[in-house]
Amino acid sequence: MSHNLLQRVSTRQLKACLAIALSLPLLWVALGIWREAQQPTSGFGPDPAEGLLHFLGSTAIIILLCAFSLSPVKRRLALPALGPARRMLGLFAFAYVTLHFVTYGWLYIEASFSLLLEDVVERPYITAGMMAVAGLLPMAMTSTAAWRRRLRRNWQRLHSAIYVVVPLAILHLAWLRKDGFAEVFVYALWFLIMLLERWWWRRQKAGAN
Ligand code: HEM
Repeated sequence: MSHNLLQRVSTRQLKACLAIALSLPLLWVALGIWREAQQPTSGFGPDPAEGLLHFLGSTAIIILLCAFSLSPVKRRLALPALGPARRMLGLFAFAYVTLHFVTYGWLYIEASFSLLLEDVVERPYITAGMMAVAGLLPMAMTSTAAWRRRLRRNWQRLHSAIYVVVPLAILHLAWLRKDGFAEVFVYALWFLIMLLERWWWRRQKAGAN
């Protein structure tokens, strides 16, 4: 798609395309569950619970980083139509994080609250993951225009939690990884570039005033 064509895409068309693209991993999960039901271990690899958990976790972190990248990309490519897509990206990220957490709660600790507490206390990567979810939850709950109006400046403050949530999610991954850090490095670099762009843009804006 050329840059010009991208600029002519309406917000509604963009949101429709995005909703379809963001639902594809869900379709993959549904297909995996169906394949698993047909023949064990054919859906998500030799350890289906782990395969599903990892797939949902990776999807969540990638969409989270996409949501964090939206403002810089919108500015740099002069694509104002991208603005309203941020809420959708954020909500999809939250949905995949929730599914990731539900998979862990259901298949790993079998809905045991005491095992969850034990993991939160004893496993730093679970602590970091839970803290990331705790930051995302109020953002998802207050994502509507009505909440934005009601909270006014506090809405912005609440949603700045993204600057903590993304590093916590990356830390979660870094802590649990036993083999290689290539993925962690790529996500951390992605986050850093988007952070630098924001810093640079604020500096330019301050210089212009
Ligand atoms: C923003 C929140 C979160 C994000 C973005 C996230 C993302 C991820 C990612 C990317 C992975 C590794 C996937 C791979 O290796 O391919 C992972 C693994 C995992 N996550 Fe999360 N996660 C989050 C929160 C949580 C929470 C709240 C829990 C549980 C309380 C949790 C439990 C796990 C577990 C048990 C694993 C697998 C550990 C292992 O393989 O030994 N995550 N997560």
